[in-house]
Amino acid sequence: MLSIKISYYFILILIYLSLTSTQLIHKLQDKLKKVASSHGIDTTRYDYEEMMLFPNVGFETKDGGWRLNVHGWRFQTSIRNKFLGKSSSAAAQRLARVVASDEQLVYFNDTFQRERLKPFMLQDESNERITIEIGNQNFSTKTDKDGQFRTSYMFKNADVQKLKKNQQIAYKAIGDNDDSWKGTIYLVERKGLAVISDIDDTVKISEVIDKIRLVANTFIHKFRVVPGMPETYRTWKAKHNCTFHYISAMPDQLYTFTKEFFDEERFPEGTYHMSGERDPEIYGSIARMYPKRVRSIFIRAVKGEKGDDERFFTAFKGVPREKWMIFTDSRELPKDLSNPPGPKGKKT
Ligand SMILES: *[C@@H]1O[C@H](CO)[C@@H](O)[C@H](O)[C@H]1NC(C)=O
Ligand SMILES: *[C@@H]1O[C@H](CO)[C@@H](O)[C@H](O)[C@H]1NC(C)=O
Ligand SMILES: *[C@@H]1O[C@H](CO)[C@@H](O)[C@H](O)[C@H]1NC(C)=O
Repeated sequence: MLSIKISYYFILILIYLSLTSTQLIHKLQDKLKKVASSHGIDTTRYDYEEMMLFPNVGFETKDGGWRLNVHGWRFQTSIRNKFLGKSSSAAAQRLARVVASDEQLVYFNDTFQRERLKPFMLQDESNERITIEIGNQNFSTKTDKDGQFRTSYMFKNADVQKLKKNQQIAYKAIGDNDDSWKGTIYLVERKGLAVISDIDDTVKISEVIDKIRLVANTFIHKFRVVPGMPETYRTWKAKHNCTFHYISAMPDQLYTFTKEFFDEERFPEGTYHMSGERDPEIYGSIARMYPKRVRSIFIRAVKGEKGDDERFFTAFKGVPREKWMIFTDSRELPKDLSNPPGPKGKKT
């Protein structure tokens, strides 16, 4: 994790520094569609439109106004989706072949959870007009080629104060069938502390360094928590009243399951930023754009790396050594985020 400090606004980033990526899951996305269509899913017969709204952030701007961010995904699903029925076993086997050798296939055989595959069996609705209703104002936006819309609106502070409830603003997104969906924007003030946390292998065991295990952990097994992390985050929330922002390289399709898992484990409420998220305020760019605002960085090492690993020194070049710390077990994390976590007096 990395933390840097600037006048009043502190951000804490929690990242897992992995050189491997979750591109594999994204490749599977295309394969899933092919497998689905060869198993009786008529892709021209999607008949049921839905929308997914990802909890996002509203930032207080320098001039005291607010920038409210909205991110959603419009897609069609089918009630006649045979993939979810009897043919799922054969489809799962075909899918497993993408990632596994013959011996490894046994491990995957017919164990894919249909519910987790379902969100991939969809048709994105491109170029559709969406109405965003915030308070008594309507805005119009359009979905891109992936059925996504990602936009932000400037609001006056007085309006935000009127609309907010528990530091949140509720809004609606209305599709072309007049179907209405509810979304939430979490307000982040210029003062205060924000915890930005990676999901995979930081709080949820994903095992991204092993492709077989990654796929199994994503599509087969019950999601598993990194022990102690929900408690640690709740302790931080209670002590610092910080906001939480969860980041994952996994595709949007996994958002619903991820959110359910976070709720079950009682992680503090927060915003979710899956693969597609590109808000400049979020994540990696924060360190580059506002380096002084990052107070601490905590990195969860999953391969037994130590703090003196050269890789980390390269990654945190220019970041004071006391601002970052490597941990394996959540018990190594400080309960209080007021002080720098790392060893003092050394230069990077
Ligand atoms: C998967 O299971 C089915 C029956 O449950 C079996 O016929 C098939 O051979 C198995 N495939 C592998 C690769 O083990
Ligand atoms: C916003 O749009 C919705 C749906 O079209 C409509 O019901 C509502 O009255 C509109 N509100 C305003 C303030 O125009
Ligand atoms: C927590 O912070 C929010 C601002 O982010 C503030 O509105 C709220 O009153 C704070 N709660 C406590 C208990 O300090």
